[in-house]
Amino acid sequence: MNGKIAPAAQAAVPVYDHGFLYGEGVYETLRTYNHAPFLYDGHCGRLRASAGYIALDVPFTNAQLLDSIAETMAAAGEMEEAYIRVLLTRGVGELTYDIDATPSPSLVIIVKPLEEPPARVFSHGVRISLVPILRNHPGSVNPIIKSNNLLNNALAMQEARRRGAEEGLMCNYRGELSECSQSNFFMVRGGVALTPASEAGLLEGLTRAFLFEVGRDVGVEVRGETLFPKDLEAADEAFITSTTRELSPVTRIDDRVIGEGTPGPVTLKLLEGYRRRARAITQPRVSAASLRK
Ligand code: PDD
Repeated sequence: MNGKIAPAAQAAVPVYDHGFLYGEGVYETLRTYNHAPFLYDGHCGRLRASAGYIALDVPFTNAQLLDSIAETMAAAGEMEEAYIRVLLTRGVGELTYDIDATPSPSLVIIVKPLEEPPARVFSHGVRISLVPILRNHPGSVNPIIKSNNLLNNALAMQEARRRGAEEGLMCNYRGELSECSQSNFFMVRGGVALTPASEAGLLEGLTRAFLFEVGRDVGVEVRGETLFPKDLEAADEAFITSTTRELSPVTRIDDRVIGEGTPGPVTLKLLEGYRRRARAITQPRVSAASLRK
C-alpha cells in the first residue's frame, strides 16, 4: 500500500480513506500469461479513464506502476501465474465529499496466485441467471467506470447465487441485456458472436475488446448489438468473458439449456484462438528472472 509491501493480513487501509468510506476509487484486475501482465497498456488506459470520470489524479506513469507491480510480485514469491489487483482511491481525508480534503490518492496493489476456473467450466460450461437487478443507469454510476463502488455488481451476484447460478446477467433500464456482475456476455447466433453494444451501458472489458481481434484471427464475426432477453431463445451458444475467466462457456441460463448443453464449436474456436494469441503477444516485460531477484 502506497509503496510499502506487506503480507495481505498486515496491509491496512485507514478508516478515513474515502475508498473505504464512500467507495470512491477505481481499480483494475490483471492476470499474467508467461509471468507478464497481460494487456498492460489497455488496463492502464482504462484505469486512467476511470479515474478521469471521478476527477481522481493518477500520480504515476504506466512504467512506474509496472515497476511497483514487479516489486510486489517479487515479494509475493514464486507462483504459476499471478492475479494482480490495482486500486486507486481518493485517499485519506475528513468526512466530506470535498475532493480538496484528500490531496493524495491511495494506491494498493494486491498480488496473489491466479486461480484459474476449474476444468469443468471449459468442458461443461456454467449456468448463469438473468437477474432482476438492473445494471446502473449510465447517468448515475456509469458502468463504464471500473469503480470500487461495486454494490450493483454484488447485488446481482448475490441474486445469481441464490438461484444456483455462477454469474448474474443484468438488463439495463431500457430492458436490454447489458453485462454480468463481473464479466461481459456473448451469445452466438448463426455463427456470429454477438455482445451487447457499449451503448447498453457496460464495462468495456479488455477481454471483450481482445475477442474482436481474436474473431478476425479465427474467422468468426464478433459484433456489438442491441440484445434483449427474448434474443436468448435464439442463442445457439453463449459465453462470458473476463480477465480471470477468459472465455467461459455458458450452457444454461436459468432453466434454459443453451444449444446442446455443452460448450459449442464457435465458443471453443474463439477460446482456443484467444489462448493462442494471449500467449503469443505476452512479452515478458517483467522477466521471470527479475521477479526472482
Ligand atoms: N471484472 N464487466 C464487469 C462488471 C467486470 O467487473 C469485469 C471484470 C468485466 C470484464 O472486464 P475484463 O475483460 O477487462 O476483465 C466486465 C474483473 C475481473 C474483476 O472485477 O475482478
